[in-house]
Amino acid sequence: MDYTNNIYFLNDGDLVILGENSITFYDKDLNKIEKNVEVITWNSNAADKGSFDTFMLKEINEQPNSIRETIGTRIVPNQKCDFSDIHISKEYLSDITRIYIVACGTAMYAGIAVKPIFERLTGIPTEVDVASEFRYREPLIDSRTLIICISQSGETADTIAALKNAKANGSKTIAVTNVIGSSITREADFTLLTHAGPEIAVASTKAYTSQVTLLALLAIHFAEVLELPKGDMINNLKDEILELPSKVSIVLDNTDVIRDFAKKIYKESDVFFVGRGIDYAVAMEASLKLKEVSYIHSESYQSGELKHGPIALIENGFTVVGIMTDRRLVDKSISNLQEVISRGAKTLIITNQDIDKNLFPTVFSVPKVHPLLSAVLSVIPLQLLAYYVAVEKGLDVDKPRNLAKSVTVE
Ligand code: AGP
Repeated sequence: MDYTNNIYFLNDGDLVILGENSITFYDKDLNKIEKNVEVITWNSNAADKGSFDTFMLKEINEQPNSIRETIGTRIVPNQKCDFSDIHISKEYLSDITRIYIVACGTAMYAGIAVKPIFERLTGIPTEVDVASEFRYREPLIDSRTLIICISQSGETADTIAALKNAKANGSKTIAVTNVIGSSITREADFTLLTHAGPEIAVASTKAYTSQVTLLALLAIHFAEVLELPKGDMINNLKDEILELPSKVSIVLDNTDVIRDFAKKIYKESDVFFVGRGIDYAVAMEASLKLKEVSYIHSESYQSGELKHGPIALIENGFTVVGIMTDRRLVDKSISNLQEVISRGAKTLIITNQDIDKNLFPTVFSVPKVHPLLSAVLSVIPLQLLAYYVAVEKGLDVDKPRNLAKSVTVE
């Protein structure tokens, strides 16, 4: 960004001859082609660390703003959400039989976190699939299946291949990405930009919360297009989405509990993350984050599954992180977590419920929020947990070993 913000985007197979004062483009058949220069509006400050020691910490702290940018002008007072950048009709949505959300890694976990929002608001069965599996397993898709591919970079090989497969089967495709002009935007029928600003750290943080926010808005848009009777639910959700940036700031304001817990566990070799419903989606993302940057082995489980096997591993000192934000399920989760405590586990609880603090030694509270949006808030302390553990271990948090920011090969 210090050198230029003028970009020419190349398609697969394009060739370029750069001369001292000239630039000539050819397509894959060696026909000379003209290309327009595009101007990138991100400034170079967005791509440096500023006052932070690492990009990861900077990006975690940018989330109030990145979520605000993602919401942008989509929520219009007393009107339907503005999604004039895509054209999805009532006839089309009424006719489709299934939505598939396809992505890799953190982007796929964002998909899992929003699946319930799509199903509750639209009544359309919604599946989430890993792109590397979806592309080869010959999924049952056709013109009545909508495919939403999520990719921060827009360059992930498996996600792009999955999208191309879907198109070849006649499905409509929407790409959700953070990068203007990325490869996926040139393949998809429609593109939605998250506007989170450049994400440099290999571990994805602000892209995840922006993806969840944008997809929640998209589900609201679908419900509005379908004109389904949802009572006050849609307006409540919009109000709650507008409040997310300030609630994220509250979460970021006092994170000492998380830093202290990181100091307690950084020498451990295994950690479990457990939750139910959307809390389980967050557990999966939290587990990925911890293993990526701290190299600690971690697993995520649905709290109710502990008894079906994993509890056999719990012994004195084993670390279990429990996420409990769903009011309907909190009592069940408390009892699952009590069972691991009685076997000697060290626990960290992330909750927005008024649980009896005497039950658990370490509780981190996040603000109350609509249950369908809870992932945006409860993931933040767990991004920080991964970060602080990695820092305690003296690791390079921005560039973890063996990982690339964008996985452009299989
Ligand atoms: C996230 O922390 C990871 N580094 C990784 O799982 C990432 O989310 C995945 O590779 C997908 O990348 P994309 O969003 O750019 O497609």
